[in-house]
Amino acid sequence: MGKSESQMDIMEKSTKPRKHRWTVVEIGLSVTVLLMSCALAGLIVLYTSCVTAAARLLQNMDPSVEPCQNFYQYACGGWIERHVIPETSSLHSVFNILRDELEIVLKGVLEMENKDDREAFKKAKTLYSSCMNETLIEQRDSRPLLRLIDSIGDWPVASGAWNSTAGTGDMWRLEDTLAVLNARYNKKAVFEMFVWPDDRDSSRYIIHVDQPALGMPSRDYYLSDGNYKKVHCAYLEFMVSIARIAREDRNLTQDEERVREDMTRVLELETDIANATSPAEERNDITVLYNKMTLREVQQAFNLNGFNWTRYIQGIMSSVSVTVQPDEPIVVYCSPYLEKLNLLKRFLSYTFNMHSHICIWKMLLFKAAYIAFKLL
Ligand SMILES: *[C@@H]1O[C@H](CO)[C@@H](O)[C@H](O)[C@H]1NC(C)=O
Ligand SMILES: *[C@@H]1O[C@H](CO)[C@@H](O)[C@H](O)[C@H]1NC(C)=O
Ligand SMILES: *[C@@H]1O[C@H](CO)[C@@H](O)[C@H](O)[C@H]1NC(C)=O
Ligand SMILES: *[C@@H]1O[C@H](CO)[C@@H](O)[C@H](O)[C@H]1NC(C)=O
Ligand SMILES: *[C@@H]1O[C@H](CO)[C@@H](O)[C@H](O)[C@H]1NC(C)=O
Repeated sequence: MGKSESQMDIMEKSTKPRKHRWTVVEIGLSVTVLLMSCALAGLIVLYTSCVTAAARLLQNMDPSVEPCQNFYQYACGGWIERHVIPETSSLHSVFNILRDELEIVLKGVLEMENKDDREAFKKAKTLYSSCMNETLIEQRDSRPLLRLIDSIGDWPVASGAWNSTAGTGDMWRLEDTLAVLNARYNKKAVFEMFVWPDDRDSSRYIIHVDQPALGMPSRDYYLSDGNYKKVHCAYLEFMVSIARIAREDRNLTQDEERVREDMTRVLELETDIANATSPAEERNDITVLYNKMTLREVQQAFNLNGFNWTRYIQGIMSSVSVTVQPDEPIVVYCSPYLEKLNLLKRFLSYTFNMHSHICIWKMLLFKAAYIAFKLL
């Protein structure tokens, strides 16, 4: 037992000045007692947390049900009995509870001033306090939203030149807009591109292309009826109301009918894109998704009516001063999606107007909540 020997050394050194010199047996016994107390204390702590965890598991079960009859009720009946899904959530689980607890801890940390903080903590605290300054946020009103729209082009529905914007289509490139959205705002309207370690060689980083996250939580919200239908309708109303506010604050005349018509078409396009995405249950096996190709091969396989992949990927990588070549390897995680998109008439035939719509809408959707209360 190496540990107890070194502890004996320390004991001997520290007991030297004492009058009574401890015998080896006494020291040995003391060390044993000390070690045993530590072990016992450890066991008690472990035991208490085990008991708590076990009690929690038991509470969440419903032992009155036969597991072979209804395993779900047997395993989760207690949880369902004791928890109500909060009004503000669509689901409730242990993770929600843990997240809420964590947020309370984080709130305390972020609100605590400390001059000795390192730079990263200071930035996090500044960001937090800027989000909490509601007076200033309301004062700014929708101006940050309108600036955001201008920074990536123009939103046809909130533009004075609604009709004539189609003419600027030559200047406007889907590749460039998608690249700015991806690189600067981390929003993905049609694809997602990111750099991540290669699944087949973790010593190197590689460009990945994947299908986008959708505006609503999953593809079912776009494609199924029933309860999803209600959310679907609310989503369209939300789109219309954001467009209405943008028009109002740009001092444009309201044209409810056309706004609604345009937004309905954006939703149709989003629905088509959602339909082309692979459902989550088909995406569990990363080895099946993995498809390594060169940039040149991506361009050949997924032409998307002349979409310039080099321009898109170079547009993103230039934000970090990296140049891509035609033989740049790319891991495509979403070949089935790109194949379907390649056949999607609505996607291929729409020009500037619709593409610009969907890009700007995807960005606004995730930003509106942080801009002003009237946008919620
Ligand atoms: C909100 O921001 C304004 C302007 O920057 C500042 O004067 C005010 O003190 C801030 N309020 C809070 C509570 O931080
Ligand atoms: C603008 O579009 C509307 C509807 O498509 C059309 O009725 C109107 O004539 C157009 N205006 C101009 C100036 O092109
Ligand atoms: C809209 O009109 C108001 C009042 O006339 C003015 O203060 C504001 O700057 C105008 N907004 C734009 C975007 O032109
Ligand atoms: C979804 O796509 C499939 C073909 O992949 C098509 O048959 C189906 O009609 C589409 N559904 C909707 C709601 O667009
Ligand atoms: C695609 O974009 C790149 C970079 O902007 C350009 O060099 C190339 O000529 C473009 N290819 C086509 C076919 O337009």
